[in-house]
Amino acid sequence: MIKVITYGTYDLLHQGHINLLQRAKKLGDYLIVGVTSDSFDKGRGKLNVRNNVLERVEAVRATGYPDEIIIEDYLGQKIDDIQKYDVDIFAIGSDWEGKFDYLNEYCKVVYLPRTKGVSSTMLREVSQEVFKVGIVGSGRIAKRFVPESKVVNGIEVAAVYNPNQESAEAFAKHFDLKPFVEDYHLFLNEVDAVYIASPHLTHYQYTKEALYSGKHVLCEIPFVLSASQANELYDYAEKQNLVLLEASKTAYCPAFCHLTTLVKSGVIGDVVDVKASLSKIMEGVTRELDVAQAGGAMNEHASLNLMAIIKLLGNDYSYVDFYSKVKNGVDIYTKANINYPHATSSITLGIGVKTEGNLVVSGTKGYIYVPAPWWLTSFFEVRYEDQTKNKKYFYSYDGEGLRYEIQEFVSMIVNYRRSSYKLRRRECITIADIIEKFNKKINYTEI
Ligand code: CTP
Repeated sequence: MIKVITYGTYDLLHQGHINLLQRAKKLGDYLIVGVTSDSFDKGRGKLNVRNNVLERVEAVRATGYPDEIIIEDYLGQKIDDIQKYDVDIFAIGSDWEGKFDYLNEYCKVVYLPRTKGVSSTMLREVSQEVFKVGIVGSGRIAKRFVPESKVVNGIEVAAVYNPNQESAEAFAKHFDLKPFVEDYHLFLNEVDAVYIASPHLTHYQYTKEALYSGKHVLCEIPFVLSASQANELYDYAEKQNLVLLEASKTAYCPAFCHLTTLVKSGVIGDVVDVKASLSKIMEGVTRELDVAQAGGAMNEHASLNLMAIIKLLGNDYSYVDFYSKVKNGVDIYTKANINYPHATSSITLGIGVKTEGNLVVSGTKGYIYVPAPWWLTSFFEVRYEDQTKNKKYFYSYDGEGLRYEIQEFVSMIVNYRRSSYKLRRRECITIADIIEKFNKKINYTEI
């Protein structure tokens, strides 16, 4: 019996796929088709895939050609599969000509003619509505958003709003956008959705007005600084059937998503401790060091680090305590312990103190180590007492990493999903609640 294997994403299954599967089947007696997993596609930069893995598997099965379907989940898997399934022929479309010659060592490699004039990319482009997005704020993070948005289908950055005329105009000129300076509502009329990247204390008002104008909102961290404000905004977004998403970028990146599912599936046993840290020395006259602009290590860095803890340990913590070093009214260093009935956790944050920026998740069977900078997760290791069982996971963290949150935002809008399992409403509210507790304490006691 001659065994043939072929691989693909098979998004929005089209005639090109069907022809390819038919040709591959004709090469032998038994056809195995490898369909990429969702996380594998994201990890290799294929962000815009429309159908999820189950839909794609079903579509491939419905062609009637495969005798067996497997999931492709990691780089290098083809070599494993060819040996495991005793494959005679590896077949793939001619767009890959030469790229898989290295597999000749394991079986025969055949490049089959590709069907002209159709591809999943093409189908995605023609069927996708394009949303106009406006950016509120034109600072450092806003600058990263525009290039990152270009790799995501279905979004076009059209306008920028900043009450500071010079800044709005310079940004608009640089990225070829329409600037708005005075009237926020005129700006809102111009777009379908907004990305809020303005100073912390303006997030609440800008988000509220955008939602009231019927616009979807992606808001930078820290979303808002109080649980009641977060609650109010989510309530309103839900009532209006709008997407409201906190741009906690790490929550959406492939490696971190995989880390959370591994932990939840018990690879390190019961989680007993999570430690997350992030520090960046800030100097000079800057918003981060200004008490009037909600500066400080906690407001600046807590969101991402609390996000990791809450994703892994949940919302129901028992109590939280803080230790800070304060300079000119802002915490230049804060350590917070967030205790749970079943576990403990801490965040260590600095804007005037430097420390290691890693993430360690400790469990009863082993631990996960993510080296600094953990929030740009591209690699982590699961470690055990018996080191021969340790496992390293590598992912790509493409560009500035904002593309993953942008993709989730667009996918929620397009697919009428109003909640993201990657960062739930309740989790955002818990983050805001802990930040609020800290700000109340620091205002009263000057720790
Ligand atoms: N294929 C083909 N003819 C086409 C499109 C794809 O023969 N017009 C083949 C590919 O060469 C590959 C298989 O179908 O062997 C699965 O390809 P996949 O990457 O899933 O499809 P594309 O349409 O190329 O997807 P994308 O546009 O996302 O790259």
